[in-house]
Amino acid sequence: MNLYKYVSDKLNEKLGFAAKLEIPRNRDFGDFSTNAAMVMARVAGKNPREIATELLPKIKELDFVSDASIAGPGFINLRIRDDFLWNAVQSAAEITRAPKPMTIDMDYGAYNVAKSLHIGHLRTSIVGDTLYRLGRAIGHKMISYNHMGDWGRSMGMVIAWIEKLHPDWPFFQENFEPTADYSGYAMPVAELDTYYPSAAALAKTDEKFMERAQIITAELQNGHPGYNALYNVFIPVSLQSMDEIIKKLNMLPFDNNLGERNAAKYADPVEKILRDKKLLQQSDGAEIVVVRRDTDNKPMPPVMFRNSRGATTYDATDIMALYYRKITDTPNHIIYLTDSRQSLHFEQLFRVAELTDMFPADSLEHIGYGTINGTDGKPFKTRDGNAAGLNDIIDMVQTAVRDRVAESGKKLDDATIDAIALAALKFNDLSHDLRSDYIFEPSQITSFEGRTGPYILYTAVRLNSVLRRAGKFDTPKTANLGPDERNLVMELLDFDRTVQSAFDSRATDLVANYAYDVCQLVNTFYHNCPILRDDVDAETRNMRLSLIKIAVDVLSRALDLMGLKIPVEM
Ligand code: ARG
Repeated sequence: MNLYKYVSDKLNEKLGFAAKLEIPRNRDFGDFSTNAAMVMARVAGKNPREIATELLPKIKELDFVSDASIAGPGFINLRIRDDFLWNAVQSAAEITRAPKPMTIDMDYGAYNVAKSLHIGHLRTSIVGDTLYRLGRAIGHKMISYNHMGDWGRSMGMVIAWIEKLHPDWPFFQENFEPTADYSGYAMPVAELDTYYPSAAALAKTDEKFMERAQIITAELQNGHPGYNALYNVFIPVSLQSMDEIIKKLNMLPFDNNLGERNAAKYADPVEKILRDKKLLQQSDGAEIVVVRRDTDNKPMPPVMFRNSRGATTYDATDIMALYYRKITDTPNHIIYLTDSRQSLHFEQLFRVAELTDMFPADSLEHIGYGTINGTDGKPFKTRDGNAAGLNDIIDMVQTAVRDRVAESGKKLDDATIDAIALAALKFNDLSHDLRSDYIFEPSQITSFEGRTGPYILYTAVRLNSVLRRAGKFDTPKTANLGPDERNLVMELLDFDRTVQSAFDSRATDLVANYAYDVCQLVNTFYHNCPILRDDVDAETRNMRLSLIKIAVDVLSRALDLMGLKIPVEM
C-alpha cells in the first residue's frame, strides 16, 4: 500500500482542499506534515496558525490519526496510529497497479552485431531492464526492443574484411548457390568481434578498402545473395553472444530482438509518408528531412534519410522502426535509453515523428545516461587503454568479490560469488543518478559494508537465516511499536510510493537507495531489538519476526526489480 498517497488523499478529502503532504526528515514530531493551513491562510488573507487551530480538530477526526499538532508558522504535524500502521504494513510489499495501464515500448540494450559489448552498454542494459520490470510491476504493458545495429556500414565493413581474409569463400563467387547450407562457415564470436575493429582501422588509411566496404553495404542492403547468406552466417553468432550477456546480467529476455534490418523492411511505406507530406528534399545526391524550426537557438542539422550512395542510414532506420512499432504495438509511449551523446539524434527523430503525424512529441522520450569513468575521472578504460568489454567488467567484479571472500576466510560456491558480483555491479549502476557520470571502482563496489549491492544481499541473507532459525510464528493482530520498529514500519510503508515515483520519474536510483535505507533501518532494529532471546515475550517476538518477514518480502521485491537474487548463504 502507498501510505503516503492514502494519507494525502484522505486528508485532502477531509479538508476539501489539495495540500502538499511532506515526510519530515525527523519524525519526532510527526509522521507527516502538511502546509494546508498556510496555503489556505494565504488565499483567505488570514493568520496561518489561526487556520491551523481551526483545522486541527477536523484532522484529528480521521480514524488513522493518533495525534496532530501545530508547528512553526502554521505547519500541521500528524502522527499515524500504530494499529493502523501494523495493519497496513502487512501488505507493504504490494505494488499498486496503474489505474490506466499504458502500452509502452522500451528501446534499450540495442547491441551491435559483430561488435563486442562494452562498458557503454552497461547502463542501457541494467537500467533498461529495471525500468522495464518497474513498468510491468505497475501494470503497464511493456514491450522491449533490442534494436540491434545489424544493418549499417559496419556490416559492410565486416563482410569486406571477411572477403579480404577468405576471397575464395563461395559468398564472393559469381556462381554463388543461395540455397545451400552455409552454417559451417560460422566463426567463433571472439574471432568475429575482431573483424570490425580491424576493418575500421584499415579503412582509415586504405581508401580502396573503404570504398569496397561502402559498395558491399549498399549491395547487402539491396539483396546481394552472397553477402546476405554470409550475413545470415554471422548474425546467429552475435545473437548467441548477446544472449549470454543478457543471461549473465540476469536481465529479462527482450520481447523483440529486432533491429535496423527489420526496420529497413519498412522503407517503402515510410518513404511514401515522407513524400506525401513533401518532407523529402534532395541535397548533394542525398535525401534529407529538414527538421529545423525558426525558434531553434542551437544547430539542428537535417535528418539524413538516404545518403549519396543510396544506403539507408541510422537516422532512416530509426524512422522506420517507429513506423514498425506504430503498426505492430500502437504504443502510447516509447522510451529510448542510450548514452546522452545521442540526444541530438533523438531530438531529430522525434521531430520527424511529429512532422509525419506518426507520434505526438510528448509520447516519445529519450533518456540519455552519463558516462562510466575510472578513478581518474576519464571514461573507464582497461590497462591497455581500450574501452573495457562487458565480459571483462563482469570478470573484474567477480575477481574482486572472490578476493574479498577469500580474505574474510569464508567459503562460498561460484554461483554465490557470481550473485554477489552481479549485485555489486548492478546496484552500483542503479544507485547513481542515471543522467550523471559515475566512477567505477571494483574494490569499492564489492565491499560488504556501505552503500553496496553485497551489503544489501548480506542483510537479506541474515534476515532469512533469522526466520529459518525461528521456525513457525503467528502474526499478532495488533502491535505496540517501539521507536526502531516504528521507523522500520514507516520505511516499509514507503515501498509502493518509491516504486511509483521511480517509474514516473525514470529514476531507478530511488529503488536502489530505498533498498539501502531499508537495510540500514532493519539492521538498527535488529541490533536494538532482541528477538530469539529468552527474556523476550511471545507477543513481542512474534511482532518482531513478522517485521523481519515483511522486510524480507519488501527487500526481495526491490531486489527482483533490480534483477538480483538473494543467495542462501553469504
Ligand atoms: N546500436 C546503437 C549503439 O550502440 C544504439 C541504438 C539505440 N536505439 C535506437 N533506436 N537508435 O549506439
